[in-house]
Amino acid sequence: MAPRFDLVIVNGTVVTASDISTCCVGIKDGKIKALAYAFDQDELEGVEIIDAEGAYVMPGGVDAHVHLCQDLKTGPHGLGGECADNFDTGSRSAVAGGTTTIITFATQTRAEEDRSLIKVVEAYNARAESTGSYVDYGFHIIIVRNDADILENELPVLIKDWGISSCKLFLTYETQRLTDSQLLDVMFAARKHSITTMIHAENGDMIGWLTDKLEAKGMVAPYYHALSRPPIAEGEATNRAISLATLIQNPILFVHVGSALGAANVRRAQTMGLPVYAETCPQYFNLTWDDLKRFHSPTCFENSKMICSPPPPPDTNDHEDLFVSLQNGTFTIYSSDHCPFRYDHPHGKPSGVLEHTPSMEGENHDCHGEELQDLLLRKNGAFRHVPNGIPGVETRLSLLYTGALQTGRITPQKFVELTSTNPAKLYGLYPKKGALMNLQPGSDADIVIWHPEKSFKPFNLTNSMLHHNVDYTPYEGKEFTNWPRYTILRGKVMWANGELKGKLRDGQYVKRGPNQLKKDSPRMDKDPRRVATWLYE
Ligand code: URP
Ligand code: ZN
Ligand code: ZN
Repeated sequence: MAPRFDLVIVNGTVVTASDISTCCVGIKDGKIKALAYAFDQDELEGVEIIDAEGAYVMPGGVDAHVHLCQDLKTGPHGLGGECADNFDTGSRSAVAGGTTTIITFATQTRAEEDRSLIKVVEAYNARAESTGSYVDYGFHIIIVRNDADILENELPVLIKDWGISSCKLFLTYETQRLTDSQLLDVMFAARKHSITTMIHAENGDMIGWLTDKLEAKGMVAPYYHALSRPPIAEGEATNRAISLATLIQNPILFVHVGSALGAANVRRAQTMGLPVYAETCPQYFNLTWDDLKRFHSPTCFENSKMICSPPPPPDTNDHEDLFVSLQNGTFTIYSSDHCPFRYDHPHGKPSGVLEHTPSMEGENHDCHGEELQDLLLRKNGAFRHVPNGIPGVETRLSLLYTGALQTGRITPQKFVELTSTNPAKLYGLYPKKGALMNLQPGSDADIVIWHPEKSFKPFNLTNSMLHHNVDYTPYEGKEFTNWPRYTILRGKVMWANGELKGKLRDGQYVKRGPNQLKKDSPRMDKDPRRVATWLYE
């Protein structure tokens, strides 16, 4: 008789978004088959067994904000540059950090040939298929125009054929941002077709104006990127987007919220019963403006490694405020916003600053490269041209474990909710992902097992330990107090004791359904002072 299980995890402290218990997990055909205090000896005969030694056993991480193979060369205002990770290196990094599902971005551009969202998705999927992936993956669609025919005809196809149930819209970046009326167009169409609307909320005009003023004063070093995007830029944009969404009663999710001001606006909207969700990211709990100022000088480029948007918050008091929002449910999900650019590559961080330089591979870039300094001096507006984004898909879970779980700021259940269960629900993957459910329809056996705390020796991170294709980590030297010991994808051990075990084509494309958190939100607001109710009469 075939064994009841293929793989069994014993001695685990099994954590889900709601519960924590000492138990064993039985896996069969890539699915969670049984959870039990113990299995009979004969059930374990010939079965692969992992002894968790009391450590946390959790649903694998679902990272809902990852940029891979993305055309980021679309604009002069921050996003230009070459994405350093493809599905090979990016998913390898994900699995080594305990993540089993990633949702990446396929982006429409304003070029006429990129008008069709379906063609865009086909092209991005071909990129993923050309390498394969170590983890399961899906796409969000970035929409940068409001063509009525495309929205009406193609959104239903994206849902039906591709299982793409989310779109991202921008309030900043010249080549991506939508006007308020364009936003309403897309939000209205997204609402009609049950597509979750993700919003990058920063006020583009404020940022542009401040950037011009900073440049006029010669303040062009990377640190000034932070001053060009102060928290009020996110404060204004979140407020505005909430108003627009309220008007048409469209659920929205703010991506990468990095300020207490933004979080407070989200909280207020949630208190009013609006279906407003928010994502935050590790950089807003681990970096501050000081990190952009570490090597600050008029010509130093080193700090470009920390440039992302929104920037990290001003100081550690902001971290504490943001931790409160993590604890109290204001933040629905915690993603990496892994947006990888190399530092030693002309199309990486120096993109736009370096005009005609050859690759700088092998050079020392600790602010001493004469060629680089020269170019920076000759070209104004350096920070304006630095591609926005930092790597973090591999460090996402361990940073939260170290900074929030182990310090008692959040419970293990909250950890699972933020990193796995809620992203799975929000983006229509639950309970296939984000759960350890053994009843039909059952969960994929996607699991992360941590090291037992008592035997884990904290270590200081260095970039060579990571598996991405980026030549730096913003968390260089930082102490980590735990790291995933095993990452299991649909019952297959992909990462064990510091070694990659799985194969590049083990990851599969996942089709998603509509937002499953929406049911939690109260009935539609019918007050005509706030809502254009007649739209739905
Ligand atoms: O700086 C960031 N966050 N870059 C990634 C692009 C985006 O807006 O998510
Ligand atoms: Zn964004
Ligand atoms: Zn992003």
